This record gives sequence, C-alpha cells and structure tokens, in this order.
Amino acid sequence: MKSESNMKTVAANHKNKLAQIGGSDAKPKCVLAYSGGLDTSAIVIWLKELGYEIHAILVDVGQDEDLEALCAKALRYGAATAVIRDAKPAMYDTVIPKAIGLSAVYEGTYRLGTALARPFIALEQVKRAKELGGATLIHGATGKGNDQIRFEFAYKTLAPECPVLAPWKVWEFEGRKDLIAYLKSKGCEDHFDEKKDYSLDENFWHISVEGSELEDPAADVEVGAVLDFVKDKFAIGGPANPPKSVTVEFDQGAVVSVDGQAKSLPEIVTQLNQQHRHAHWAWDLVIENRTTGVKSRGLYVNPAAKLLQSAADALARCCLNKPAYDRYVSIAQDYATLLYKGEYFSMQRQVVDAAAKPLLDCLTGSVTLTLEPAIYVSKIDAKESLFCKETSTFEASDYSHADAGGFINLSWLANIGQSFVEPSMVNTDASYENALETTGNAASELCEDQSVAGGGLVSTAV
Ligand code: ARG
Repeated sequence: MKSESNMKTVAANHKNKLAQIGGSDAKPKCVLAYSGGLDTSAIVIWLKELGYEIHAILVDVGQDEDLEALCAKALRYGAATAVIRDAKPAMYDTVIPKAIGLSAVYEGTYRLGTALARPFIALEQVKRAKELGGATLIHGATGKGNDQIRFEFAYKTLAPECPVLAPWKVWEFEGRKDLIAYLKSKGCEDHFDEKKDYSLDENFWHISVEGSELEDPAADVEVGAVLDFVKDKFAIGGPANPPKSVTVEFDQGAVVSVDGQAKSLPEIVTQLNQQHRHAHWAWDLVIENRTTGVKSRGLYVNPAAKLLQSAADALARCCLNKPAYDRYVSIAQDYATLLYKGEYFSMQRQVVDAAAKPLLDCLTGSVTLTLEPAIYVSKIDAKESLFCKETSTFEASDYSHADAGGFINLSWLANIGQSFVEPSMVNTDASYENALETTGNAASELCEDQSVAGGGLVSTAV
C-alpha cells in the first residue's frame, strides 16, 4: 500500500525533474498513453488528484475505436489536452515489412501484434512531450507484463531526460473492482463492466485476447466462445464467401501485390484481415513466456500476418541456399525476440535489420496459398529460385551419387573410434552385437565397400 503522502512525493520529484529540463511550470506536465479503457481513465483522475497537467494522447495503430470520442472522454475526465496521432505510416514503413519478410514469430507461434505497436506508441508520446517542452511519460501497463517493458525501454531510449511514471507500480489499487470503486467515489457515472475479464489489445496487425479461462492451461478452452466475444471487433465485415486461395507477390522481400493487383502494404494487410477474419485458420491459441518470466496463454487473431509471413518463409526456402536459409531463420528469431522484448529502438535491432537486407533482397516471386481444407503453400513461382528440379528429381539426372560417399566419410570422421550404441539397443544375438561394434576399426577397412573416385577422401587408416 502506498500512502497518499508518498504519492505526493512522487509527483513533486517529477515536477523537480521537469523544472530542470523545461522551465518551472506551476503544475508538472505529463503525457499519458490514453486508450479510453478503465485503467487509463482511472489514471487520468488519479493524476489530476496528484496535481498533474494531463496531456492525453491517443495513438492510432489501427484499433477499431472512435478516437475522437475517446479524446472527448479524456477531456471530460480532466485532461488538459487530448490529441490523436497516427503511428501507422511509421510502422508500415519500418517494422511491418521486416516482420513480414523475415516471417518473424516469437516462440514459434506468436506473430507479435502488440509488441510491434508499443514502441511506436511510445515514440508518439515522446514527440508530444518534446512539443510541450518536457513532460513525465505515463502508461497504463501493469508490472506483470511485457507492455511496461516495451513502453519504458522506448521512453528511456528516446527521451532519457523525461521522468517515467507507471501508476500500476505505485498506486494502492489491486484490480478492476478497485478501479471501478475509485471512479465511482470520484463521481464518475460511466459504466464499466465489473465482469469483463478478458484483456484485449487490437491494432491493424492483430487482436489479442488474454485472461479469464485462458489463464488456466488445464481449462479446455472453447475457442468459438472466445472468438464470439470479439466477433464485432478487428476488421469486422468481410465477404460471406472469402476466396479459397491467395497469391502474394514479393519484390526483394516487400509485398507488392495480391492476386495480381498491385496495392500498398496497408491496403493489402487490411484487405486480407477483412476477407479472412472469420477463417478457421485465422487464429492461434498460444502459451508464451513473457520477458518477466511470467507465463501466459493468449488467443491471437491475425489472418493477414499468417498469410504474408507463411508466404515469405516459403519464398525464402526456395530462393536461399541452405547456409543462407539457416541465417534467415536465426536472424528472424533474433528479430522476433528483440521485438518481443520491446527493443525496437536499439543497436541490436539496427544490426539485425542490416543483416536481414541481403537475405530479403533475394525474395522476389509469387506464392500461392490454398486455404481449404487447411492453409498451405501450394505454389511458388520465383525467377531466382535455387530449387533445381533436375537435381531434386527421383528420376535419372546428372547428379553423381558417388560424390555423396566422400561427403558422408568426412562427416563421419569425428565418430571414429567411439561407440554410441546404448545397451538397450544391442540385440542378444552375438553376431548382431558384433556388427554394431565399430570401436577400434580402421577407417580404411570400414570404407572398403564404398570406394570413392580418386582413392577416396578417407583412403588410409587414420
Ligand atoms: N501477450 C502479448 C504480448 O505480450 C499480448 C499482450 C496484450 N496486451 C494487453 N495489454 N492486453 O505481446
């Protein structure tokens, strides 16, 4: 429990720090990432009580909300100003094409919808704070999740001079009920549902649902019911009979057209999300490890992400040779992990971006995904494909089967003189046992039956 006097000290400290960077205003200014929900609404009233001049900012990341109405709400709750800023163009210009081209997915399944947006919300907050001559940066994320890390890592990197305040880390409230009681006690008449127990986050890339029965992995989740809860959100609409296949065209790692029609990336993402919002393959139910170490289970609806990332990965498999594809997978994993941790504004992200470039440059061509009865890549058409039918065929080809012998001899070299057979694998039949025992045999003896042209790579005893 934090006492009120402690809180006043927090506010006074912030005021002092702000006075150092931006003159000495009567009231300390703050920029709050306002979402219009219960938490940030309670935060507005709470900050006002502490004597802050509150500047609410509604960052447009493609959430299906009436942002003007939410600005009016922030002002009604006591914000001095409330502005809307659009983070979509910056995201579409930077992080989204990379996340698609690299098929960046956290822990194998989560397509990073929330993680991609948070640093860009923080960036807009910082820009607003600078416009105001300095301000305390405030978010409504709790101390349990990833979002606090993503916001604060970005704040500290982009504006180390600005104080940061995370109400959930200092105030006395413990949950939704406390916040509703607090708002009521302050005369707020808006209705907040006490029973709303899912935590949602929506942007143009996904909608996430967490909380309630999803918190128990032993609970047999009925996905249909959870999806029903969000059926009116996230790219609502879409045709009754969505297309049964999609062809996506890439130019040097960038998506340039869908089904032969050239479109901008925002148009493509919006179209695919609208068309396939209700598809049976459009969602993933995932257990993930948060950066804090806390485990969580979430339902993510992200059809465009799934289609575009699957297509990019298929193209990479065709157009990159084995060592390059191994790099692609590892760079994609690095990128996904650092994005998940909220480290977009960092040297490590710049390094990964630079390393990804030559790989993405190879990804030109079109990929067709068939969507029924299951989603799969059915066709890849790439001029620079390295897939060589003549080599891969099971039929006769120029390939020299004998060459493979030397390759295997070399890869086996390190095993000479050791046994890797466990007792349980050895048959009681004595002759069979001998056959498995290779220890001590010279390489030349063992290679006799498979001589390699030119004397073989392992021609003499080692
Ligand atoms: N678990 C996901 C992530 O960490 C989604 C978080 C959604 N955030 C929320 N406040 N509901 O990226």
